[in-house]
Amino acid sequence: MPTILMTGGSGFIGRHFCREADKLGWSMIVLSRNVNSAKDLLPNSTELISSLDEISSDRKIDTVINLAGEPLAEKRWTESRKKHFYSSRSGLTDGLYKFFSHRKSAPDSLISGSAIGYYGPGSEPMDESSSGKSGFSHSLCANWESSALQFEKLGTRVCLVRTGIVLGENGALAKMLPPFKWGLGGPIGDGLQFMSWIHIHDMVELLKYCVSNTDLKGAVNATAPSPVTNREFTQILATVIRRPAFLPMPAFMVKLLFGEMGLELLLQGQQVIPKKVIDQGFEFKFPQLQPALSDLIHKSSENPKKS
Ligand SMILES: NC(=O)c1ccc[n+]([C@@H]2O[C@H](COP(=O)([O-])OP(=O)(O)OC[C@H]3O[C@@H](n4cnc5c(N)ncnc54)[C@H](OP(=O)(O)O)[C@@H]3O)[C@@H](O)[C@H]2O)c1
Repeated sequence: MPTILMTGGSGFIGRHFCREADKLGWSMIVLSRNVNSAKDLLPNSTELISSLDEISSDRKIDTVINLAGEPLAEKRWTESRKKHFYSSRSGLTDGLYKFFSHRKSAPDSLISGSAIGYYGPGSEPMDESSSGKSGFSHSLCANWESSALQFEKLGTRVCLVRTGIVLGENGALAKMLPPFKWGLGGPIGDGLQFMSWIHIHDMVELLKYCVSNTDLKGAVNATAPSPVTNREFTQILATVIRRPAFLPMPAFMVKLLFGEMGLELLLQGQQVIPKKVIDQGFEFKFPQLQPALSDLIHKSSENPKKS
């Protein structure tokens, strides 16, 4: 059974991963800034630490899963928030590297977060071999990835998980649903921008696949194989919750309300294909959007408090 050190384990994706690891009997150590509140969110078997120095020098860490990062979609991007986006990702990853470079043994693998924002905007299909276009999201992801790649100097296998929009009972879907439920949903801008999404179940399975499949390294796209345009997403969501979705949010309003964040995360998109895991035989439980949304929305209406 692997021993896994996780950063960002108290977050949306991390919590789901820790629950699954608990079922599998994997040993999880979660680094958190707030151990007391993280304790309430994670299984009892999870060991919580507030500093890497709490890990004894002779304890072997097999894998590091590195997901910590200041949330990007909460509010407008100011210069000071942008600095936090960098320091909470690249800065924390540099700290992990420094810690492991002074230990007797390095982890066998590092599964490190990144995002499809790496690719920049584009409607053409992109896979792991596509190069990134400039923009804040690209720079942030590229910087985070190069911090993670330092671990290769320690002989560690590094996977850079370029994550799409993760759909779960929390996360992006929870933010999208309220206007739709009130019949106030609709496409954003012209609705032609792509949304590369992934169901939280498949996200967790894909992280587990990265842990176990030692052939996998480098960039790994974590998106379902069937990205949709924002217009298609809107129509499918409206069908699943049986509400109309006629009210578009014009591009100028998105820019006015959300500035650069609205432009990069809402008005621009990318059509990302998870070629590497498809080629390796990974099977998605939810390759199509409609069953993915039906599963989540019906689950949350059966159990509204589940996070
Ligand atoms: N969810 C998505 O759709 C999505 C898509 C693409 C990429 N990603 C990336 O994947 C990672 C995990 O996503 P998520 O949705 O699970 O994120 P999340 O729910 O926002 O959780 C991120 C975790 O990072 C830690 N964190 C937050 N701000 C921090 C800061 N300033 N310094 C250090 N640690 C901080 C927190 O842990 P503690 O409070 O316990 O320290 C938090 O639980 C993030 O880096 C995110 O950007 C997510």
